[in-house]
Amino acid sequence: SPQRISDIAEMRTQVAAWRASGERVALVPTMGALHEGHLALVAEARRIGRAVVSIFVNPTQFGPNEDFARYPRDVESDLRRLGAAGTDAAWTPEVATMYPPGFATRIEVSGLTEGLCGAFRPGHFSGVATVVTKLLGQVRPDVALFGEKDYQQLQVVRRAVEDLDLAVEIRGVPTLREADGLARSSRNRYLEPAERALAPNLHAVLSAVAAACRTGAATAPAIAEGIATLEEAGFQVQYLAVCDAATLAPLERVAGPARVLAAAYLGRTRLIDNVAV
Ligand code: PAJ
Repeated sequence: SPQRISDIAEMRTQVAAWRASGERVALVPTMGALHEGHLALVAEARRIGRAVVSIFVNPTQFGPNEDFARYPRDVESDLRRLGAAGTDAAWTPEVATMYPPGFATRIEVSGLTEGLCGAFRPGHFSGVATVVTKLLGQVRPDVALFGEKDYQQLQVVRRAVEDLDLAVEIRGVPTLREADGLARSSRNRYLEPAERALAPNLHAVLSAVAAACRTGAATAPAIAEGIATLEEAGFQVQYLAVCDAATLAPLERVAGPARVLAAAYLGRTRLIDNVAV
């Protein structure tokens, strides 16, 4: 297993020592319940230099009716996986270290956080931006890695880091998928077998919408057809949108870099996914 560090001074001393010996440090922020998708980020971190993985189930990014209490937690198994993947250190702060009494600051990224998941999860991206800013300040990595799986989160983090002049490079890593196209996710374990069988339709529909929009045709008909296909298959769609790849502004037609993004429930499980156009 990697060395497990829960004390800020100890974490900074380790990172400073690596940097003093000329090594670069890459941070992979996670909430644990690690799967192959997370490990793809760890592999990328190792190509950069020392790999630090944080594990912290962040209470401030869950809404009152979301799954914070039942979010899967198994630090021992996470540490074994991280060790096998060649992680150098696991940063596992306590809630009291993250949010001590008197804590009063939130990072709000406007614009980018208002649509898509932000419209259905008020406060979520503020919680993410706040905890990521803290993790960057605690670990002080050269590079921080985020999955394209959570594409809006990646853009929100990029925006916050640029706006706050944080001296760290943010890198996106492509989504790791199952053979049938389903994006790997900690929440996939909640799917009943029948739901698991339907779940790959989400990626298939997003890919079809992307193909239909690639020609510069109007996005609205492709979006409407995609939503109808998913609803007929048994999904309850929250949104399906074609957006500018950087600003996430909805597009009537695709002219430059664009992304198709969706969130949908299968039973009680909320799935998100996105693909490039
Ligand atoms: P978590 O859901 O644990 O995800 C940690 C990182 O793994 C995120 O950057 C996410 O995009 C990436 N990831 C998840 N599934 C992936 C997949 N199939 N392929 C590639 N990357 C994948 O996202 C969070 O935690 C939290 O919001 C966090 C950023 C840690 C802040 O609390």
